[in-house]
Amino acid sequence: MKNTENKTFSSFFSFLSAEASCSQTLLEALRAEKHEISAPCGGNGTCKRCSVKVWGRVRSLTGEEKELEGEEILACRYYPAGDLKIELPGAEAKNAPIAVNAPDIPGGGEGLGLAVDIGTTTVAAYVYDLAEGRCVGKASAMNAQRSYGANVISRIQYASDPAGLEELSRVIRNQITELTRSMCDPADIKYISIAANTVMEHIFAGLSPEGIGKAPFKPLSLFGDEYPAADFLSGFHPDCVLYLAPAVSGYVGGDITAGILSSGAYKSEKTVLFIDIGTNGEMALGDKNGFVSCATAAGPAFEGAEIDCGAPAGDGAINAVNADLTCTVLGQTEAETICGSGIIDAVAALLKNGIVDETGRMEEEKYYLTEKVFISARDIRQVQLAKAAIRAGIETLLEEKGCSYEDVDKVLIAGGFGAYMKVESACTIGLLPPEFRGKTVHTGNSAGAGAAMALTEQGRTELAKADALCGYLELSGLELFNDNYIEAMMFEEVDE
Ligand code: FES
Repeated sequence: MKNTENKTFSSFFSFLSAEASCSQTLLEALRAEKHEISAPCGGNGTCKRCSVKVWGRVRSLTGEEKELEGEEILACRYYPAGDLKIELPGAEAKNAPIAVNAPDIPGGGEGLGLAVDIGTTTVAAYVYDLAEGRCVGKASAMNAQRSYGANVISRIQYASDPAGLEELSRVIRNQITELTRSMCDPADIKYISIAANTVMEHIFAGLSPEGIGKAPFKPLSLFGDEYPAADFLSGFHPDCVLYLAPAVSGYVGGDITAGILSSGAYKSEKTVLFIDIGTNGEMALGDKNGFVSCATAAGPAFEGAEIDCGAPAGDGAINAVNADLTCTVLGQTEAETICGSGIIDAVAALLKNGIVDETGRMEEEKYYLTEKVFISARDIRQVQLAKAAIRAGIETLLEEKGCSYEDVDKVLIAGGFGAYMKVESACTIGLLPPEFRGKTVHTGNSAGAGAAMALTEQGRTELAKADALCGYLELSGLELFNDNYIEAMMFEEVDE
């Protein structure tokens, strides 16, 4: 049973009338009213994050009606059956810290440029003075598509019908326009460069991502082209050109090629492993002569979803757990939840203290880190599945390239989550091989930095080179990967 008692409710109320919305679930009706409700599972009833307090009559998906007096229910599991008063959850994750770095780029251009990293979780935008090559504005926000599902799979599902695709396209295009407006007049923007995973680029461009969601996982486009910005966005300079970073495959996208560019991995004389850890672990291993890349489905555990007390990073979330099981909490507040970096730390500390053994077994059903926040036996299982997927991807790439751990000169950890993950804890739980201690570097928002570099012609030429270097290995159905996955499920023995 999922823990919902930790959820904080704001005093914000919404009122729905039955006629307006009885064919929509409460979640859909609230979205239509422009309320942002966290729905990591996209309304499938599994994440338990869409809870709202309701006064009035509702009908369950199976048709039973009941009268509620302020009870908490999942908004995706009920239809309104009368006029309702609804108390909405507090704005979780709105204050999530977002790693924003913007490198200088070669100047000599004209007007302003806009570089955008559309992450599945966050969107970061940078305005550049193209004459000077300097970043003059930064803005970021949680991806407004989050209330349609937290991960790319739920977004693919939502965008699989034309109306859903249109809605998600509209949401992200509007968000980019609004972020730009917060920094400058969009009419002054002459060039836009966007780096994102392949699904996000499809949705932005209004292309169906449906083919990426099922075998043989074929995207409609691998991008890497320029378009008139007016095809997608309004209010920008009439001659504004928009570029979408090139993708390698359906699951190794323009965010990865942009990261391989900005981190300099594509020019490396020595072997580097570039890895972006999220609901998918996307990674590439190689050097200036070529990379092999792959993507593994880690699931949502590292994003805090499908974890009993899990939540995205935000005020009240435990973001770090020390070896003695004491915790650090984001914001000046009591611990209410635990986010991805805290979960990895917590499992590492439970292993070190012998509370969890190497098979993942925990004596008690729950271990309380604080009065409210606990790690359950089921959470440990979720972490095992997630870390096994990432580790098996790493092992498979190493074997494919004929490399040992020692051959890897540097491990570059990209992405928002990676920026907060402690490498020591990742090695303790076996997400990374212990041999990678001491050679791991956080790249910050390397996709955003790559998008910024692609604002110049030279940057786009280099990005095309980085993309051409990347080969792709499809892991599904690969025996080597399956064997590595099973092996990586166990924790290694930990010296206390
Ligand atoms: Fe309702 Fe996930 S349980 S959105």
